[in-house]
Amino acid sequence: MVMKITTKQFNLSKDDLKYEALVIGNYSNENTKEFKDYDKKTSGLLSEIVKEENFESNCAEVLVIRVPNAMKPKGKWKSLNKIILVGLGKKDDFATKQKRKAIAASIRQAKAINVSNVCFAHVTDYKLLAETAILVNYSFEKYKTKDKKEKTKTKAKAKKLEELIVLTDKALKKSDKDAISSGEIIADATCIARDLVWEPACTVTPTYLANQAKKIKAANFKIKVLDRAACQKLKMGAYLAVAQGSDQPPKFIEMVYSPKGKIKKHIAIVGKGVTFDSGGLSLKPSKAMEMMKEDMSGSAATIGVMNAIAKLQPKGVKITAIIAATENMPSGKAYRPGDVITAMNGKTIEVNNTDAEGRLTLADAVAYVSKANPDEIIDIATLTGACMVALGNVCAGLMTNDQDLLDRVKASAEKQGELMWQLPLYDEYRAKLKSSIADLINAGAGGQAGAQNGGLFIQEFIGDRKSASKKSKSGKQIPWLHIDIAGPCWYEDEHDWSPRGASGMPVRTLVDYVLSQA
Ligand code: BES
Ligand code: ZN
Ligand code: ZN
Repeated sequence: MVMKITTKQFNLSKDDLKYEALVIGNYSNENTKEFKDYDKKTSGLLSEIVKEENFESNCAEVLVIRVPNAMKPKGKWKSLNKIILVGLGKKDDFATKQKRKAIAASIRQAKAINVSNVCFAHVTDYKLLAETAILVNYSFEKYKTKDKKEKTKTKAKAKKLEELIVLTDKALKKSDKDAISSGEIIADATCIARDLVWEPACTVTPTYLANQAKKIKAANFKIKVLDRAACQKLKMGAYLAVAQGSDQPPKFIEMVYSPKGKIKKHIAIVGKGVTFDSGGLSLKPSKAMEMMKEDMSGSAATIGVMNAIAKLQPKGVKITAIIAATENMPSGKAYRPGDVITAMNGKTIEVNNTDAEGRLTLADAVAYVSKANPDEIIDIATLTGACMVALGNVCAGLMTNDQDLLDRVKASAEKQGELMWQLPLYDEYRAKLKSSIADLINAGAGGQAGAQNGGLFIQEFIGDRKSASKKSKSGKQIPWLHIDIAGPCWYEDEHDWSPRGASGMPVRTLVDYVLSQA
């Protein structure tokens, strides 16, 4: 359930505080104004407890203080049970990352003490507060029937944090209200992606993904879904080979956001949408297969980004989003190791491993979108276990044919606090993709540089950029960025401002990037 964010003009000396919990931030090297104000209002309760508990106000340190009636202003603050004191660290070090961590710590604490609403007394960045609070408050509990029953039985005890109230000195300006709503939109989009990844593969089929994409209804937004026959006509032999073993029909999803007025840039986003990756006939061992519902995380992020873009309606930037959705299953109809298939751009591929299926679906997806001649292509894919080995499970791998594009997206990632690190695409490794019977093999050889092998393979299907006259080709490949999210699509532990589980990465980075190009 998504938390509601409301604002309230509030005067501490006149108005009653009618909420269950209040968050007060304090620096480690000096007291904030709100600390001083509320300390006065509670007859010195805050400073007394801070001393008693040795609370140092280090960043994200939290202390829950029960407010005795005797300490409350006369006849007021009846419902206020707790003050959550949160450390902000040193005043001079208090930047975006520290702010996010402090907000996250406060919301986690508010959840832990079972209040249904919490208010913040002094806020400097409205967007950051709304966004971070929703991201941290997220949980996926749809299938927990036992917990639900227990919760209704003991309603008084187990509450859900449903509302965050921002207390403001003055009436909010329009720009502040817009900041809150854009924070909400971006966090909600991330939660849409998370929900899709959490949902099991028995629900999230290619058809389900297509239906989720169709739910986006907005101005300047169009969606088209191609079925198997339409993909056959387009000669998408690589994508369809992956799909042929499954009883679930493949769905090739195309979403286009095209605002009125001059288009400065056309960005293509391609998300890997393998709704379940069993490995196919090159079957995965059970442990490796257990989490393979997450193999559509790239497409989940793509749908998340398009949800946000449809609502934010940026001007000057066109987005084409592609998801070649399919399952990868073994069966009598499945593609085999050794099969030779032909992708949409005419290149032939010897399948040496049916578990390297993501790059086959992406091959046709990027070849297809290249025909629209976008200014750049960004693919997001849970592509290789090797990327996880290289960078661990909180960091995505970046590979590119255009350093400037990578640098721009990485700058957005850094702003958003999503970890990404560049891996090379060395020509030396292209030889590993050579086949003795076809143009390429899909899985590379040797078990080394696995993340790069995946990147180098996809690059073979990125089209050339057509020049402005549209007749002559410039001969240069379309700038392309590959984001391997095999690791960070799922956080094994709670991480910064994200709960354990589906992360929704890199929705926020890409929304930020698109907006920065508008
Ligand atoms: N979906 C997997 C990659 C993956 C692994 C995603 C772990 C998330 C967590 C991908 O399709 C795959 O199986 N890749 C193979 C490639 C190999 C056969 C060349 C891999 O990484 O082992
Ligand atoms: Zn696979
Ligand atoms: Zn896969």
